[in-house]
Amino acid sequence: MTRILHVSDLHFGRPSVPAQVAALEAFIAREALDAIVISGDLSQRTRRAEFQRAGAFVRRCEERAPTVVVPGNHDCAWWSAFLGAGDRYGMFARYREYIRSDLEPRVSIPGATIVGINSAHGIQSYTLTTRPRDLSIVGAVRGRQWENVRRAFSLAPPGDLKVLVVHHNILRGKLSNRWGLASRAFGIVDASYTGADVVCCGHDHEERVEEVEAARRKVVVSTAGTLTDRARGGRPGSWNLIENDDGVLSISLYEWSDAARDFTRARVSTWTRRA
Ligand SMILES: [Fe+2]
Ligand SMILES: [Fe+2]
Repeated sequence: MTRILHVSDLHFGRPSVPAQVAALEAFIAREALDAIVISGDLSQRTRRAEFQRAGAFVRRCEERAPTVVVPGNHDCAWWSAFLGAGDRYGMFARYREYIRSDLEPRVSIPGATIVGINSAHGIQSYTLTTRPRDLSIVGAVRGRQWENVRRAFSLAPPGDLKVLVVHHNILRGKLSNRWGLASRAFGIVDASYTGADVVCCGHDHEERVEEVEAARRKVVVSTAGTLTDRARGGRPGSWNLIENDDGVLSISLYEWSDAARDFTRARVSTWTRRA
């Protein structure tokens, strides 16, 4: 059995809910996990104090299991470089200082190959959108990034669960009605072509777990909620637990319960993987 915890959008800073972070840390400390995936938006406004707290959380995860973390749009100082000008490296200077120098990490564990990509590019010619308020928010994945993922998965041991990690939601949000990526519906097609079995994403602050068909393949999408008071539609904070056991893949949604003052398993989705 391979167990991967998937959490997103912690937004350390004002929106963060300390009781939820503490409960998640307690779960991570007591449970056997093979990997931990954090799909971006660790800070709220790229402030040092936020990144310091986020970095401490990431270190605690790393002590327990190999951890794959990618940046989100809230981790990107987009104003330091846009439309090809300015200091592009500087957009992630603080993320690199406090979280990880590598924006696109890869981890191989027995039974799974996990590949992260950075979809937060700030404002570039290829992220321009007709929705002005989405300008610095919308995500993008370049062709060479998709190709790097495809190559990494092609080298994975046969039978491995191939897990792609990207911040922006690759399915349209049900409540928000918004696509995470500038490429909109093409994102899931591109992700499918990489050979991914599971795509872990966040950004939309609404949990969503489902299997979709794209590029003549089936892909399971694990969209994690958030551990903040900014969950869409007043929803509780949540995260997902991915378990793969001898061809049976299941993803459990853990939701915050005010009564229990803890996360409780709210529902499970299960698929039998094809050989
Ligand atoms: Fe977020
Ligand atoms: Fe985001």
